[in-house]
Amino acid sequence: MLTNFNAMLQTAYQQKKAIGSFNFYNYETLKGILQAAEEKETPVIVSFGKKYLANMTLDEVRAIVAAAARTRKIDVCLHLDHCNNLDIIYQAIRSGFTSVMYDGSALPFEENVANTKRVCEVAHANGVSVEAELGSLAAGEASHEGSADDVEVYTNPDAAKEFAAKTGVDALAVSIGTVHGLYKGTPNIRVDILKSINETLHIPLVLHGGSGTPEEKVKECISNGIAKINVNTEISDYTVQHTKALLANETPHLSVVALKQMQYVSEVVEKYMDIFANKQ
Ligand code: 13P
Repeated sequence: MLTNFNAMLQTAYQQKKAIGSFNFYNYETLKGILQAAEEKETPVIVSFGKKYLANMTLDEVRAIVAAAARTRKIDVCLHLDHCNNLDIIYQAIRSGFTSVMYDGSALPFEENVANTKRVCEVAHANGVSVEAELGSLAAGEASHEGSADDVEVYTNPDAAKEFAAKTGVDALAVSIGTVHGLYKGTPNIRVDILKSINETLHIPLVLHGGSGTPEEKVKECISNGIAKINVNTEISDYTVQHTKALLANETPHLSVVALKQMQYVSEVVEKYMDIFANKQ
């Protein structure tokens, strides 16, 4: 069933688990994610970034996801990832996305608050959940989010408390040392900052830059308030590498390549779903 993320994130937050939010941009990535979720019997967030409007329109995305989710036994949230463009956010809500992320993290605090609050009013009136961001992630290798010169700005816990109270946001993305893309060196994940935010906020927190983050750190983050984790780069990287290997010695029919790609996507997603279940 297609749903917003509120119930699934609240349950995950209470149970100290996280829901995976996996980026998709074609039918193969979407179906690979949904098959993995069904296999693991877990709710899932399928996340579409505005960069991928070159691949599919918002209406096409909504139609395909609604059709693919209808026959599944799991809850599926259709989420608009990082979007700083209010017109696209409102279009996504009109198209039937069940969740949106307004990303005003590059703006001055008060402007980010004002825009996020406006998005929350419109989204909530339509039953759509909202994620926003405070602080910003650095760019790693092969990142498909943000820009190559993005630098780390850690989320300030006091600012996060004020931001959540003023906006009414359902979930907040925090910056604690993960990067978008693959890590260039050893990750320095600031669980101390996360703990301070979680102690005062009491809403589900979101970790961007899931790809390549060490498993023990991910679990520590989940135990301290992270209830949604985004993964993009590793799904693409793994699938492209395996597709290259598949095509090295044979030239299969394109339909066979598509089926294999769904399987590659599922393999990565299932690995992350096992980690996000946070079994000790
Ligand atoms: P990665 O590409 O590092 O997994 O990050 C994905 C992400 O944060 C999407 O919003």
